[in-house]
Order: sequence, then C-alpha cells, then structure tokens
Amino acid sequence: MKLIVFSVFALLLQHSVRVDSEPTQDKQALLAFISKLPHKNTIKWNESDSVCNWVGVICDDTQSYVSTLRLPGVGLVGSIPPNTLGNLTQLRVLSLRSNGLTGSLPPDFSNLKLLRSLYLQNNEFSSEFPPSLLSLTRLVRLDLSSNAFTGKIPFSVNNLTQLTGIFLENNNFSGMIPSINTPSIVNFNVSNNHLSGSIPKSLARFSAPSFAGNVDLCGGPLPACNPFFPSPTPSPNPPNSQSPSRKKSKKLSTGAIIGIALGAAALLILLLLCCIFCLIKRKNRTRSPKEPKPVAGTRAVPAGAEAGTSSSKDDVTGSGEGGGERNKLVFLSEGLYSFDLEDLLRASAEVLGKGSVGTSYKAVLEEGTTVVVKRLKDVVVSKKEFETQMESLGKIKSDNVVPLRAFYFSKDEKLLVSDYMPAGSLSALLHGSRGSGRTPLDWDNRMRIATSAARGIAHLHVSAKVVHGNIKSSNVLLRQQDHHDAAVSDFGLSPLFGNSSQPNHRVAGYRAPEVLETRKPTFKSDVYSFGVLLLELLTGKAPNQASLGEEGIDLPRWVQSVVREEWTAEVFDVELMRYHNIEEEMVQLLQIAMACVATVPDQRPAMPEVVRMIEDMNRSETDDGGLRQSSDDPSKGSDGQTPPQESRTPPRSATP
Ligand SMILES: *[C@@H]1O[C@H](CO)[C@@H](O)[C@H](O)[C@H]1NC(C)=O
Ligand SMILES: *[C@@H]1O[C@H](CO)[C@@H](O)[C@H](O)[C@H]1NC(C)=O
Ligand SMILES: *[C@@H]1O[C@H](CO)[C@@H](O)[C@H](O)[C@H]1NC(C)=O
Ligand SMILES: *[C@@H]1O[C@H](CO)[C@@H](O)[C@H](O)[C@H]1NC(C)=O
Ligand SMILES: *[C@@H]1O[C@H](CO)[C@@H](O)[C@H](O)[C@H]1NC(C)=O
Repeated sequence: MKLIVFSVFALLLQHSVRVDSEPTQDKQALLAFISKLPHKNTIKWNESDSVCNWVGVICDDTQSYVSTLRLPGVGLVGSIPPNTLGNLTQLRVLSLRSNGLTGSLPPDFSNLKLLRSLYLQNNEFSSEFPPSLLSLTRLVRLDLSSNAFTGKIPFSVNNLTQLTGIFLENNNFSGMIPSINTPSIVNFNVSNNHLSGSIPKSLARFSAPSFAGNVDLCGGPLPACNPFFPSPTPSPNPPNSQSPSRKKSKKLSTGAIIGIALGAAALLILLLLCCIFCLIKRKNRTRSPKEPKPVAGTRAVPAGAEAGTSSSKDDVTGSGEGGGERNKLVFLSEGLYSFDLEDLLRASAEVLGKGSVGTSYKAVLEEGTTVVVKRLKDVVVSKKEFETQMESLGKIKSDNVVPLRAFYFSKDEKLLVSDYMPAGSLSALLHGSRGSGRTPLDWDNRMRIATSAARGIAHLHVSAKVVHGNIKSSNVLLRQQDHHDAAVSDFGLSPLFGNSSQPNHRVAGYRAPEVLETRKPTFKSDVYSFGVLLLELLTGKAPNQASLGEEGIDLPRWVQSVVREEWTAEVFDVELMRYHNIEEEMVQLLQIAMACVATVPDQRPAMPEVVRMIEDMNRSETDDGGLRQSSDDPSKGSDGQTPPQESRTPPRSATP
C-alpha cells in the first residue's frame, strides 16, 4: 500500500516538474545564438513558450536541459557567436548542416563534453580543424564534409576514442594523414582534399573511395607509393571528380617533373631489358610455349577476378546507386520515421547477428535514429508476393511483437527495417559472458519474459493468423534494461523462402520433429519451438549448442532423460539455485514446456492455452512469494491443475 502511495506521489511530482520547468540558461544561450545570426524565418522561436517546444529543439525527459539541437538548412549565415551554443553543456546532438556558416567554431565548443553527434557538413567553414573539437571525447559521429576547412588533420583526432564515423571529404585539408588508431571507426572519408603522402597502416582497412580525389596520396587501398614517382598515377581518381568547382592544382613542381622523367627513363630501360630477356628465353625453349604466355595470361585473370569481386562487393550501396529501376523504401506505419534509402545507406551500420534468413545490422542514421535493418538472402517470391506479405506483417500491432516498419525490394536486395531494442536479446542475456561478473537473469524476469513472449506468439497466431516460424532466444528481444518485457521478432518470413530452399538448419535445436520432413512451419511447430525456449529459460542451456554432454541429443530429450532419472533438480540452471521458494514454479513451468515439446503435434496445446497456463501459474504463486505485485484474487491454487503439495516430489509428474 505504502509503495503504491509513493509511486503515485512520484508520478504527480514528475508531472508537475514537467509542466513548470524549462532550462532557462539553455534558452538564453539559444536566444543569443539566433538573434546574432541571420536566418530564414522558418525559425520562429516564441520567447514566452518553453524552449523545449521550439522547432529543432529537444529536451531530456525531465525537461531540465536541451539535449538535441537540429537546424539543418535554415539559412544561418556567418560565424557561430561565442558563448552561445557552447553554453548548452548537456547537448548530445547538434546538427547545423546545409547552412552558410563561415569562419571557425568558437573555443567554447570544448564545453560540449557530452556531445555525441556533430553534423556541420555543407557549410562554408574555412578555418583549420577546430581545436575545440579535440576534447569532445564522447563524439561518435563527426561530419565536417563539404566545407572549406584547411590545414592538417591533427593527430589528436585520436583523442576521440568513441568515434564510429568521421567525414572530412570535400574540404581543403592538406599534409599527411595522421595515423588514426581508433578501432571503432567504421565510416572514414577524406576524399577530395589536398592530402599527400602514404596512407597510414591503421587506415588501410578502408577502401579507395574513402581516399579518392587526393592527387598526392598513395599506399593502402590506392596504388603503392612508388619510389620512382613522387605520386601515384592519377588515373584511379577521375571517376570521383564530383566537384568541378574545386580547382585541383594541375601544376607540377620541377621536382615532380624530374621524378617523372627519371621514372620514365627507368621504366624504358626495364622494358628493354625485359624484351631482351624474353627473346633469349624464347630462343632457348621454343618447344614449350607455355612459359612466356602466362605473363599476359596471369594479368588478364586477376583483372577479371578483381572486376568480379568488386561487382559482388556491390552491396547495399552499390545496388542503391547502380540499378536503373530505383526502388523505394516502403514504410508500413505512417509518420513514425522520416528517412529515405539514401539516409539508410549513409547510416553507420554494425552487424548484430548472422542468421540463416539473412544478416541483421544496427543502423544509426545521421540524425540519431537507430533502427535494425535485416538483409534477407535467398528470397524466392516475386515482388508482388513479397509486398503482400510485408503489408500483412506491417499491420500486426502488439506490445509483445517487434513491429516491422519498412521494407525495400529490388532484384538484388531485400531489406526489412524494424525498431531497435537496445536492451538486447534473451539469448545474450542468458548465455552472454556467463560467470564474468554479469548479473544473472533472476526468476521473476525469466517468468516475465516467458509470459510476454508467449503473448506475442499467441497474438501472431490468433489475431494475425501468422506462423512465426523462427522462434529462438535470439529472436526474443527485451524492451527495457531492467524490467524485462519481451517482444518477438523475425516472424512470418518463412513464406518468402519457398519450400525447397527452406534451410532446414534454420532453427536447429528449436525445430519441431515433423518440420524436418514437411519443411513447413505451422502453429503447432511454433508451440514446439516455444517449449524449447521455455526449457532454455529453465536450464540456462542453449538448445543449439553442444553443451548437453552427449552429441546429437536435443534439449527436450536431455531434459526428459534427466527428469526420468528423478534428478529434476539437476535440470535447472545453477544460476537459479540462489533464489528461494521458486522450485514449485520452476517445476510448473517445466511441465508446461514438456507439454509444448510433445512429439505428436496434436498433443501440443495451442498457443493461447499456453499463455493461459503460464498466467494461471503466475497467479497462484503471487500470494506465496509476496514479492510480485499483490493480487486480490482469493482463488489461489483452486485451478486444480497443479495442487501445491505435489510440487515437492516433482519428477514423475513432470514427465509427460
Ligand atoms: C554563457 O556562459 C557564460 C559563462 O558562464 C556567461 O558569461 C554567458 O553570459 C552565457 N551566455 C549566454 C548567452 O547565456
Ligand atoms: C507565444 O506563446 C504564448 C504562450 O504559449 C502564446 O500565448 C502566444 O500567442 C505565442 N505567440 C506567438 C506569436 O505565437
Ligand atoms: C587530448 O586529450 C588529452 C587528455 O584527455 C588532453 O590533455 C589533450 O589536451 C587533448 N588534446 C587536445 C588537442 O585537445
Ligand atoms: C586550399 O589550400 C591551399 C593551401 O594549402 C590554398 O593555396 C588554396 O587556395 C586552397 N584552395 C581552396 C579552394 O580554398
Ligand atoms: C567519400 O566521399 C566521396 C565524396 O562525397 C564519395 O564519392 C565516396 O563514395 C565516399 N567514400 C565512401 C567510402 O563512402
């Protein structure tokens, strides 16, 4: 009771805080900023309104500071006045791209210690690399591209240890590229500058387009730095001459000319020597013409192979740009996200997991939105069928189902976009770095996950008439870090793959026995997979790992054998042994799980029934434990299905 009163009070308090307060210092800083810079009249910030309601401004949840400022393309002209934006010390995201900003950044930008994303591209900044940025150690994305920044790229960029993307292309940076060692960087671009010298080893992992358009750059992905020539032949660069407005100095220094002359002379001598050598060789062995030819032969092969790899490398980016038919990202729910394919392709991506259906990426879009993009492979259905299936999946709405937000279909590429769940998957929670100081998943949370996942699947079956087809712990995602409500993802995709190419290892360990033959998941095979998932929750063992002692034995069979030997206690996860008074519940859940994994499909309960059994079980237990929210239901234990006394001697009853 006290607890409830307190939480209501806390709610009220929070609410009142929300209504009254606004960050006044941040407001003043923003007003000073906007009053000193000319801008389009799309920005009409109302001084008497809360700063948190202004266009382009986002505050934190409690409205105590401005966390995001986005003013792209609003016609800001001139240099950023000091002591304005630099006063927004809690700022996380700042986007001033596509304006007419000039000069440098004021030194007080170094106060933006929490800044994670900074987008200043497409302006007219003309200073050296702003030193104030070098102490912003939380920066994840830094975009200074398409400005007129000059001078060297400072070595202290290494201070920004969290960077995943740094964009410096289309500027006037010069000198050598410093050895940037930040391993987290996935997007790196310095193309179209005046950089020179060899590409440092630490950056050689990026491809040529990251460096193109710098006439004097060599090594790494570009042609090797040749001792005869001070710079590599500029032939690989022209394709990228995107900005004809920027003059590239075509004048060669006398040193370069001498170098080229020397080089040419050396090459000539070398060729001559080669010819003589070949002639002599040919004379010597006229019988085997094999030898001399390969010179031409081996050349042709790698060239062809290279072309092959580069076209197969033509992944998301390539097909987006190349194909004549320009397909669009189709959104399934209106208004939630506003990005297009280009944005998606520009996003920084990180592999979340490789499954048999395809690979999932976490994509962080420029403006800070995070989504999950799944690239499907081996899709056999036509575009029309694909669209129909996506549209019906897009309509599914349940708290326990991860919504599908958008899709993309082209000849070479099929993408699905869904919400990103930062709290991760059940699989990671159960099996990730066991023992090394991680908090074990406690029983209450396991129950909560079981209940919510069951509800999600039941919703798919009953309301949407969709077979999930890929139930496994890595497809059960958690909504929040500590309070574990789960949602199921990756559902309803099996119709896209056709029967013959249905990879039968897709849900190894979770797959119902009959699916091995029919290759077609059904409602009942979903129930089986869910039963395996419950066993996984109870035993802490991954069903698709060889952690069960004997080879070739699956989790249900292992549990059955252990339970039959009357060692029921042995099946449970050791991490659960520290909690008291949960044996009864564990045994009850075990019984439900065993019913789900019945070999004969018709003996398995339907999903709504599974939900009911789990919920009933919860209810009868809340009164015993007293730890969960109190239930006013006096009819405890009267369900008859599992009389409380029985639970002390569980083994027999647990065998189905
Ligand atoms: C920014 O902060 C400085 C130092 O705290 C203060 O002197 C200045 O007035 C602030 N600027 C604005 C516009 O509030
Ligand atoms: C500014 O906001 C106040 C309070 O919200 C409102 O009364 C007023 O009409 C607004 N002024 C303009 C010009 O929108
Ligand atoms: C880089 O970081 C170090 C320590 O974090 C700091 O002392 C140094 O001033 C930074 N360098 C620059 C150029 O800001
Ligand atoms: C780029 O910088 C060089 C000096 O490093 C300067 O001579 C040149 O004019 C600059 N070009 C542009 C387009 O700003
Ligand atoms: C780098 O930027 C240039 C110019 O905008 C672009 O053509 C190139 O594709 C980019 N490189 C990478 C690896 O994205």
